[in-house]
Amino acid sequence: MKAAIIGYGKMGREIERILRERGDEVALIIDADNRQDLDAAHLAGIDVALEFTTPATAYDNIRTCLECGVAVVSGTTGWTDRLGELQALCRERHGAFFYASNYCLGVNLMFRLNRQLAALMNRVGGYDVRIEEVHHTEKKDAPSGTAITLAEGIIAELDAKSGWVNYAPGIAHAANRVERSGDTPADRVEIRSVREGAVPGIHTVTYESADDMLELRHTIKNRRTLAAGAVVAAAFLCGRQGVFGMDDLLEESK
Ligand SMILES: NC(=O)c1ccc[n+]([C@@H]2O[C@H](COP(=O)([O-])OP(=O)(O)OC[C@H]3O[C@@H](n4cnc5c(N)ncnc54)[C@H](O)[C@@H]3O)[C@@H](O)[C@H]2O)c1
Repeated sequence: MKAAIIGYGKMGREIERILRERGDEVALIIDADNRQDLDAAHLAGIDVALEFTTPATAYDNIRTCLECGVAVVSGTTGWTDRLGELQALCRERHGAFFYASNYCLGVNLMFRLNRQLAALMNRVGGYDVRIEEVHHTEKKDAPSGTAITLAEGIIAELDAKSGWVNYAPGIAHAANRVERSGDTPADRVEIRSVREGAVPGIHTVTYESADDMLELRHTIKNRRTLAAGAVVAAAFLCGRQGVFGMDDLLEESK
């Protein structure tokens, strides 16, 4: 496939390595310093764009790709309150758009286990639930998109929870933040965000009763698994029309 990379940071560079190893063509690389080149002329002939940039720039980048008729895979987090708008645009234009808050296969298996566990917990009762996510200090958004997806899975299954809050000590830009863990209302899932070192990503869902604790944890060992998942999604998207996510990819690989 003939690919464009939008965002030449940690993910963009890893994606480039994998595309070249597979023999795919990397025909266009866009980063902040040449962002004006993201236009119809430069996108002509591109099969798919892989977009990993920043919460402030993802929406416009994806929109430009869809308006230019180029399929786009995005994993940028921290902007998805507007995801629905772009999915609608994609359908209207008969384009192709793949979004996942996490491209790691193991995390997507965790998403499924998380929902199953929440459904069981809804029946048995007696446990409260919380989420912790740990990431490197350069991460721009809090909580992580992955933690939000986990919280949404819990909220969909647990009658006692109707939203989430973020306890993010020392992180200025956190969404839905509470200042102290003790401020979390009983009907919210608390997501605790921790930023330290170069951690690629650890997510833990903890259920605690008066007598015991049950944890579901995923640890990413390196960024390559994320980039490889995005490249698999790009290959899946080529030649298709519609709006897709990791569930579609997992169903296909059964
Ligand atoms: N979905 C997933 O599986 C997954 C995995 C890892 C990271 N992420 C997310 O992907 C995003 C990027 O992560 P990263 O670790 O590569 O970050 P990074 O900071 O290393 O790279 C971001 C790059 O985007 C560039 N950029 C900024 N504005 C731009 C613009 N207008 N056009 C093009 N490029 C622009 C920056 O210069 C930088 O090189 C973040 O939102 C992160 O949370 C998602």
